[in-house]
Order: sequence, then structure tokens, then C-alpha cells
Amino acid sequence: MLIAGNWKMFKGPDETAPFCHALRNADLPEDVDVVVCPPFVSLAPAVQALAGTEVGVFAQNCHWADEGAFTGEVSASMLKELGVYGTLVGHSERRQYFGETDKTVGRRVEAALAAGLDVIACIGETEAEREAGETEAVLRRQLAVLPQDDDLVVAYEPVWAIGTGKTATPEMAQEAHALIKSVLDVPVLYGGSVKPENAADLFAQGHVDGALVGGASLDLESFLAICRTRS
Ligand code: 13P
Repeated sequence: MLIAGNWKMFKGPDETAPFCHALRNADLPEDVDVVVCPPFVSLAPAVQALAGTEVGVFAQNCHWADEGAFTGEVSASMLKELGVYGTLVGHSERRQYFGETDKTVGRRVEAALAAGLDVIACIGETEAEREAGETEAVLRRQLAVLPQDDDLVVAYEPVWAIGTGKTATPEMAQEAHALIKSVLDVPVLYGGSVKPENAADLFAQGHVDGALVGGASLDLESFLAICRTRS
């Protein structure tokens, strides 16, 4: 089981240090891999506070070039230099608001893996796509740019379930995860309004290997409750 907290654009360095110190001192189940994904400016304090622990620090994005004239971007080798363990790529908010495409997602994933970062690649359909019966085609298209790799994890995050309180039913998650696993032999996380109250039902699905948690990962107690959830 892997539980990753995507902080999105929350928690600057001042908030990150005490949060990560508290996480460091918390009782975490040994069979659960725990990851936090702070904003870029908070990566250094997170790496520092969690040094020597099993908790992984991931970025939320990384560029495909090693360096260059790409204002506002950060490369995989820079993240490695900082002690960051991995990165998210292709989150639907990047696709929706920042022009991320399947092609750029593929390039970012490839570069991150080549640099030795673990990658959680995010895919998922919009509500309109699901209603139009296009879920499978969309997921297959988004998966087509991802390589088979031991350091790759896929997060299935239906866009309509993100930040809306509308979780996919465990059966919907299971069905999408089965499709993903028929294409790539990788662990698959579910994301979209995961909370301590619904985590057990989701984790009870055989193809759900963990969760990518947004809002509920910002509060230590609810994040810990999800990490400690048994199906
Ligand atoms: P919420 O858990 O806030 O719905 O966010 C999910 C998400 O986008 C995680 O990457």
C-alpha cells in the first residue's frame, strides 16, 4: 500500500517543517509506504525534516530537460540534488490549467525516470468524458505515453472526483484500475476525495494499491488516519 499526500499549492516552508517533524514522530504502519508532495519551495524543509525516515518526499512536477531556458520550470536532476525521491507528473490540474498534454506528460515521465526519480503519473477522465462513455478510450490514450518501469506508479484520479467530495464508487475504481493494469504492470493508486471515512472501502478493492490524497492530506490527523486504514 502506498499513500501519497499531494499538497497542491498549500503549505509554505514555515508550515512544512513542523508538519513533517510531526509526521516523522508519528506511528506509521510498517507495511505502508508514505509519501508527501509539497510545493517546490517547501521541498528542502520537507527533505530535511524527514531525512533518515521511510517517508518519501516527491515534487509535484518536473521538466524534461536537464537545464535550459525554461523560465518557471525545475528539472529532475535539480530535484535529485535536493534529495527529493520522486515526482508527480500529469496531474489533471496541470492538464486543465497549464496546458499539459499527453505528449508533455510522456516527456516529463521519461526524463524523471531516467534521472532516477520515482514517478506517480496521474490520469483520469472528466465528467463529460465519463458521461459520453469515453472513459476507457481516454485512459488508454493517457496510458499510451507511459513506459513500463519498476519506478512508475499510476494514479487514477477521475477529474470529477477531485476536490468535489464525489468519490468514485469502489467498483468504478476497481474497473478503471483493472483496465490500467491490463496495459501496464504497475501499482495503481486511486485519487479523488479520499477521506478517512471512505478509504477502507476503496482499499478493499483488489486492484487499489493505495491512494493519492489531496485535501485530506493537509491535516496530519486525517492523513495519518488514511495511512492507518485497513481494508
Ligand atoms: P482531493 O483529495 O482534494 O479530492 O484531491 C485529489 C487529488 O487531486 C490528489 O492529487
